[in-house]
Amino acid sequence: MSVLHTDELKRDEQIPRHVHDADRKGRVYVDRYNTTQRINHWITAALFTLLTLSGLSLFHPSLFFLSNLFGGGQDTRAYHPWFGVFLIVSFAMLFVRFVKLNVPNRDDVRWMRKLGNIVQNKHAGLPELGKYNAGQKMVFWGQSALISVMFVSGIVIWDQYFGKYTSIDIKRYALAAHSMAALIAILIIIVHIYAGIWIKGTTRAMIRGSVTGGWAYRHHRKWLRKVALGREEARAGEPGANDPHSPMPGPVSHGPAE
Ligand code: HEM
Repeated sequence: MSVLHTDELKRDEQIPRHVHDADRKGRVYVDRYNTTQRINHWITAALFTLLTLSGLSLFHPSLFFLSNLFGGGQDTRAYHPWFGVFLIVSFAMLFVRFVKLNVPNRDDVRWMRKLGNIVQNKHAGLPELGKYNAGQKMVFWGQSALISVMFVSGIVIWDQYFGKYTSIDIKRYALAAHSMAALIAILIIIVHIYAGIWIKGTTRAMIRGSVTGGWAYRHHRKWLRKVALGREEARAGEPGANDPHSPMPGPVSHGPAE
């Protein structure tokens, strides 16, 4: 694997705007998220955390102590649905930003077939990928579905405003759906956080907005090609991500990854 050097790129006058030096070692960094996207992501994460803590405190008596974080049981009950309203707005904004990049394609099927190798950290023979792999796409679509279920079922059981519009039976079903969806969503987020930490260099993407050229080359080479070509779509969406004739820019092919 190789590291991309900006001097090389600059010499060839091929350096695109989203590939740049971020340190003095000549290491290349590639922009992955802009500030707005990162703020949107971390607000969503903070709201999800608040919902998890307040929701768990209402879920089982053994977890009721968590309601102290929100000023007691009554306050927790009042705040929890509002956290949910803010989450749906924040997540909807994330959804709109990332939906195009999460559309499944044939590379995802090929990648999934090699899941055994991936878990063992063997990267040889894996298909080149666009901005996201099949696992990330599953997290994206899983959370989209579960947050929608939680929101709709949450409205049904929000007695203070909507109690009179539904029957007790419907509320029982809604409550079951709400709790099940929340448990699965929490499990998915644990996987999401674990994957971000397990794959070295990934958290940097959401904290600082960029990744090393080596990371991009190793995990999302098709995306890197697009960024290196200076195509704006590399960030906003990826039409033609499956284009087999997409040219490989010279500097990327001979840059060793770290
Ligand atoms: C609280 C802990 C969280 C951490 C540490 C975390 C970390 C990360 C990291 C490192 C990435 C960048 C991955 C990459 O570019 O390859 C990412 C992307 C993303 N995260 Fe999180 N995240 C957290 C919570 C959440 C929550 C609660 C949600 C939504 C409910 C969420 C939704 C997303 C989405 C939609 C993306 C873009 C990837 C895609 O569209 O598939 N994250 N996260």
